[in-house]
Amino acid sequence: MLRILFVCLGNICRSPMAQFVFQKMVADRGLSDYFEIDSAATESYNEINHEGIYFGTREILKAKNIPFEEHYSRQIRLKDYEYFDYIIAMDDGNIEDIQSLTGLDTERKIHRLLDFTANPRNIKDPWYTGNFEECYQDVYEGCEAFLNFLKV
Ligand code: 4NP
Repeated sequence: MLRILFVCLGNICRSPMAQFVFQKMVADRGLSDYFEIDSAATESYNEINHEGIYFGTREILKAKNIPFEEHYSRQIRLKDYEYFDYIIAMDDGNIEDIQSLTGLDTERKIHRLLDFTANPRNIKDPWYTGNFEECYQDVYEGCEAFLNFLKV
């Protein structure tokens, strides 16, 4: 069993998008039983406000036929660092923020999603850019590269 936690700032746009895109890729390969997949935030405000997946992310997941269920934002905590095998961040800032919450990455579990691709870069936050299509393309590219990296 591989435990994967996708992480972004708010856990209502990019990381739930990655969670459900990756979940479908794994299901399409018949590998669902080998994975536990979840997502979390570095900030706490969306958890405090009990926010679910943002409208723009819901709409793009529907448009791309990616199944999803409700997911409520929650902030990453130390037990997540201990529990998950891979903690997959969307940008550099997430990596710094995760370590400020869970401590230094002594077990080298924290990675940036697009670092698994031939073109390492951050995934821009669609909460600010409004571009959910671009975000989806980046998330898809990263999830494919990450799954290939895992060689399952
Ligand atoms: P995410 O985007 O990190 O991709 O979920 C954001 C969503 C909400 C906020 C910031 C980023 N916010 O400030 O509420």
